[in-house]
Parts: sequence; C-alpha cells; structure tokens
Amino acid sequence: MGSPRNSPKNSPSGGPTTASATDGGAGRPGSPVAATRGERIPSSPDRHHSEVTLRVNGRPRTLVVDHRSVLLDVLREQLRLTGAKKGCDHGQCGACTVLVDGRRVNSCLLPAVAQDGCAITTVEGLAGGDGAGERERESDRDGEERSADGELHPLQRAFIDRDAFQCGYCTPGQLCSAVGAIAEAESGHPSHVTDPGTPSGQPVALDPDEIRERLSGNLCRCGAYPNIVRAVEDVIR
Ligand code: FES
Ligand code: FES
Repeated sequence: MGSPRNSPKNSPSGGPTTASATDGGAGRPGSPVAATRGERIPSSPDRHHSEVTLRVNGRPRTLVVDHRSVLLDVLREQLRLTGAKKGCDHGQCGACTVLVDGRRVNSCLLPAVAQDGCAITTVEGLAGGDGAGERERESDRDGEERSADGELHPLQRAFIDRDAFQCGYCTPGQLCSAVGAIAEAESGHPSHVTDPGTPSGQPVALDPDEIRERLSGNLCRCGAYPNIVRAVEDVIR
C-alpha cells in the first residue's frame, strides 16, 4: 500500500500555496479542485495537501488531496463517484465499502493520502467503466475486479435476479464486500465460523453461515439479507 510521496512537491515550499495554517487548509475561494464539505483545496501540493495517483476502476487519477480527507470523500466529492455511500461515517455500517488492491475496506476510515499508488475499485467499476462515461477493458489487472466492458458483474446480475435490495443505499457496499469476501475465501482466509480443521491456505467453501459471517459488516436496515445470501450463492456455484 502506498504512502504520500516524499517529494519536493510535498514540502512546504513545493509549489504554489493557496491554503494557510490558519485557514485549516481550506484554500482560497476559486481553487479549481473541490474538496469535502464545501471547502476548496488547491490544485498544487502544500503542507496540508499532497498529490496522489489512485488507479480508480482501471484509470489513473492524479489529484491533490487534503491530508485529512478520507478515501470515501475523495471518491465522492473530488472524483464524483457517488456509488459508495456514507452511512455511519464511523466504520460500522459497510455502506462505504470499496476494494483497495482487491481487498475490501471501509473507505470512510482510510486517509486518501495513504492510498497513493493503490488500485481502487468502486461499484461503478464492477460493471466495467468508471462511472464517468469512460470505459476500459482491463480485467484482472493490479488486483482489480472488473467485468467485461458494458456487462454487469455477475454479483450485480445475481442481486437483480434475487431481488437482493430494497432501498439500495447499502447495495454498493454489499456488492463490493461480497466480491472481496469471495476472493478472501478462495485465497484460504478463514472467518470466525470456518471449521478449524480446514487445511491452512486452502479455499474455504462458502456455505450460508460463511456468507452471513463474512458479510456481517454490511448492514441493511431493509432486511434484504436472505436474498443477498442467495445472490452470493448463485455466483459461487
Ligand atoms: S460509512 Fe463507512 S462503515 Fe458506515
Ligand atoms: S437495501 Fe440495504 S439498507 Fe435498504
């Protein structure tokens, strides 16, 4: 996992400064890059901001981020990828789940600046494309989980077929979490309910108990859980 690049661009004197220590890094009105919560951030790094490159849904995106910004806010507010949702903002609901280098994470807890160089997959990228009108064919690259261009991910299709969502607010997180959970099981990562006798490093079979346990970090207040489990079962068969 990357870290903020330690380059002269990140030094206090590296590049034009449009934010000061006294304004909390909010920057001058009119700065070209929108930040979170209605603030503006500068287009060049300064002591409160760094330039990072995130490979988002197969596409390199270089941008300047506030050191305080979490990945969820950068995705939603700076990159306009609004699939990942902010539910609790405390790492408790899973609505913000995305994949970082193929592993699921609560993006509301991750400093964006620490993800420099990482491959990020959001729900927009599961179906191919980046949700911003540009689509690429880059399946299975850099740990990213992508379907062929223009096609729904098998899990997205299964969620539709199984009527596995109601309000849909939690669904992007459920989908990304399920994709990550299936990969974890295939890689032999045990869960709390995995039989201790399972050979280490061998794929773990995902029965309904395993699916429920592995997706227990994603809350759905509508109660679509039974159909979510069936949708995941459809994909792993
Ligand atoms: S918004 Fe991130 S876990 Fe709830
Ligand atoms: S479908 Fe998950 S909260 Fe409604």
